[in-house]
Amino acid sequence: MLKRALCLSVFAVILAVFASGMTVGGEKKGKGKDDPKYNNPTFVPTADEVIHKMFQMAKVNKNDVIFDLGCGDNRICFMAAKKFGSRGVGIETNPVRIREAMDMFDKYNKNDAISYGTSVKLPLVETRHGDALAMKDIGDATVVVMYMFPEFMTLWFPIAEKHLKPGTRILSHDYEWNYDTLPNAWRPVATATVKSSSRDNHKVIMWVVPPRKSRSK
Ligand SMILES: C[S@@+](CC[C@H](N)C(=O)[O-])C[C@H]1O[C@@H](n2cnc3c(N)ncnc32)[C@H](O)[C@@H]1O
Repeated sequence: MLKRALCLSVFAVILAVFASGMTVGGEKKGKGKDDPKYNNPTFVPTADEVIHKMFQMAKVNKNDVIFDLGCGDNRICFMAAKKFGSRGVGIETNPVRIREAMDMFDKYNKNDAISYGTSVKLPLVETRHGDALAMKDIGDATVVVMYMFPEFMTLWFPIAEKHLKPGTRILSHDYEWNYDTLPNAWRPVATATVKSSSRDNHKVIMWVVPPRKSRSK
């Protein structure tokens, strides 16, 4: 009897999980109106050597506001804040990564109910749980960093073209726009190859946002 009741409750939980569109691991399935158009959860943190190269190429300084699109544990913004005193905003879809960003500075309280719109504000660095393709204040950035696949970059380019200030530096780890689908996308102003302890061929690509009149939008 007990066994049967147990089986029934397990079945009921599984049914509820499917009905709510969640997997047991907590990842959302299906498309709601607030779901990001792109949400690949692959998390590979950028190696420190690559981050330093990005800072060097962009000449990051204390007046900069760095946006990390798909920030993971938001290490890049924390490092820049510590090294240069620059401000940073990291945005990330995966709540596990947001927790890691919070854990990194254990003075910040853990929050069990992380939902879209939750933001953790530090004196210089903010870590947001949300969609990098839906940032209303992306135009505040002076430096944008990302380690995202070309599919994301293709979706993000029109946003960059519309909202970024001229002179904003964009730095990407390994990936470029797909020039076949985006023939008018900006061309890099600098590229570098960096060696880390994991591999010796990281690419860093930098673009500088051109004046508005030379843009198609
Ligand atoms: C390869 S990791 C890069 C992490 C960090 N920027 C770095 O370079 O160390 C890419 C991250 O982007 C996040 N991501 C994917 N799609 C996203 C989206 N639409 N908005 C925000 N974050 C996203 C993933 O969850 C993942 O943590």
